[in-house]
Amino acid sequence: MVNEMSNDTLIDIKGLNLWYGQSQALYDVSMPVHKNKITALIGPSGCGKSTLLRTINRMNDIIDSCRIEGDINYNGNNIYAPACNVMSVRKRIGMIFQKPNPFPMSIYDNITYGPKIHGVRKKEELDRIVEDCLKQAVLWEEVKDRLEDSAMGLSGGQQQRLCIARALSVSPEVILMDEPTSALDPIATAKIEDLAQQLKEKYTVVIVTHNMQQASRISDYTGFMYMGKLVEFGETDDIFTRPTQELTERYITGRFG
Ligand SMILES: Nc1ncnc2c1ncn2[C@@H]1O[C@H](COP(=O)(O)OP(=O)(O)OP(=O)(O)O)[C@@H](O)[C@H]1O
Ligand SMILES: [Mg+2]
Repeated sequence: MVNEMSNDTLIDIKGLNLWYGQSQALYDVSMPVHKNKITALIGPSGCGKSTLLRTINRMNDIIDSCRIEGDINYNGNNIYAPACNVMSVRKRIGMIFQKPNPFPMSIYDNITYGPKIHGVRKKEELDRIVEDCLKQAVLWEEVKDRLEDSAMGLSGGQQQRLCIARALSVSPEVILMDEPTSALDPIATAKIEDLAQQLKEKYTVVIVTHNMQQASRISDYTGFMYMGKLVEFGETDDIFTRPTQELTERYITGRFG
């Protein structure tokens, strides 16, 4: 288990326990998230991947029955400390969901929505953000002539890239992705995978995936979860070629259950 704080640790999850009502969903999870790397979370359905991902930007706060113990240090501050400003955590740590969820408004307005809330008013500045984020999400060429059209008219893969552009619009540092390609065809999936690789130059990415090929293709670090526990965490190469835990070995070789 690698969970000591190293120089490039941006987020340090320490001793995290989480309950939904009486039922415990995470057990003593400790894990680093390295800066400008892609970290994948894998494991069977119901093992707690989405739950763990949501703790990183406090998305579980909106679930009434949810109770959390432990720390998540982000840039040296515990995001679960009472004084922590949740809004600013969510601005710095954006999230992409399984099903693309563009707002029912124009492509342009989808991307300017966040910046406007955060006080950007000037048209030139908003135009610049739209172009910049769409370029980073590798969607600009496909939509630059239809920015005023509804986002709902885009294909699923385009909608997902739009959601990524929207997440980038408020200048986050971290992007959390929960099975971002599970609703997409192989070509759209390949585009998102390429995009994730490019994004890590500027951002830190944590991705939940059911697809082990995807995890091994795109991630630098992998955490394998089982029944609410982080069984093993390490460099992706090590996890996939020489795991230390038998459970991990069984899971990645498909001999499970
Ligand atoms: N809002 C909730 N209220 C109560 N229990 C929940 C809630 N969300 C998740 N759980 C429970 O917590 C456990 C972990 O769920 P989670 O969604 O994190 O798993 P997962 O690994 O993401 O699964 P999947 O691969 O199917 O998406 C499951 O037992 C699930 O039923
Ligand atoms: Mg999930």
